[in-house]
Amino acid sequence: MFSVKKIAESSSNNSSVVECIPPEYVYQNNNSNEDSVILDDEEAQNTTIPTIDFSQLISSNPADRSKAIQELGTACTDWGFFMLINHGVPESLREEVLRASQRFYDLPDEDRKQYQAGDIFSPIKCGTSFNVNVEKTFLWRDYLKCHVHPHFHAPSNPHGFSETIEAYCKKSREVIGELLKGISISLGQEEKYMHKVMNYESGFQMFVVNYYPRCPMPEQAMGLPPHSDHGVLTLLLQNELEGLQLLRNDTWISIHPLPNSFVVNTGDQMEIFTNGKYKSNIHRAVVNKNATRITIGTAHGPPLDDVVAPATELIREDNPPAYRAIKYKDYMSLQQSNELNKKTCLDYIRI
Ligand code: OGA
Ligand code: NI
Repeated sequence: MFSVKKIAESSSNNSSVVECIPPEYVYQNNNSNEDSVILDDEEAQNTTIPTIDFSQLISSNPADRSKAIQELGTACTDWGFFMLINHGVPESLREEVLRASQRFYDLPDEDRKQYQAGDIFSPIKCGTSFNVNVEKTFLWRDYLKCHVHPHFHAPSNPHGFSETIEAYCKKSREVIGELLKGISISLGQEEKYMHKVMNYESGFQMFVVNYYPRCPMPEQAMGLPPHSDHGVLTLLLQNELEGLQLLRNDTWISIHPLPNSFVVNTGDQMEIFTNGKYKSNIHRAVVNKNATRITIGTAHGPPLDDVVAPATELIREDNPPAYRAIKYKDYMSLQQSNELNKKTCLDYIRI
């Protein structure tokens, strides 16, 4: 079983799409989440993640900048999620990445199968679900994951794909680089603090395409189950379809992205570095029955061989280290070796 796209498009009769999903795609926990409810629309519309204006964050006006930095700090403390507007990444580039990703999934399966890898650290990896070797039920999601920094890897097909991805990943690193400066100051440190602590210049960056085909029974299936992201910061670009939800006070909140915005979230390595000040929030991706949803995530972390621990400057006598040190690479292996579920991997290293 290599792709859910194939299942979504297969037909037993003359209709062009399947009518129901195979039993192994029925996500058991979906409706039996006793500890969480989904806000109804009216409530959900009033609950929304903070918005950060990137142009204010890099403003030469000190008052504007410091206000934006304060808002950024509050967003990281209270939510671990925010919407980023006025980020300077051209809309044409964002659209091109989404189009290129669709073209990649328009290729015959065989063209993607060469990247179907056993090793989780393969620089280019294509697959379905999360880790089919450990899962009992499958996710309604295909993926492409490429290591794009410090060394750039991307499929050579379709034509122009690699160039588009490279240009986008470079922009994404610039945006994250600026966010890290704001975050450093919000933590009471100098501007380049996070860059140094996490070795950003030689840091690991991963490019991920999440491809969620149209699903005939969206309530029964799951795109990505509840999880937290492993890195420091993730930048998420989405096509016009919604599906991302985050857990807040045992309630799933749907995120409605503003036009031309990114969703940014803090990951597990950020929570470790800041000794729990900036938490890595649990989120999931639900699927829909209207059309294919595509999201592009770029995850930014320290170099894979770096050992991550709460940063010395951020621990105090009354705030002792709350996480054991762990090599980033080993942390990723740990996450990959388990079924993706609500329990964050941070639980394994909490002191
Ligand atoms: C992820 C993720 C959400 C989405 O890739 O880690 O949470 O909506 N994606 O695709
Ligand atoms: Ni995620």
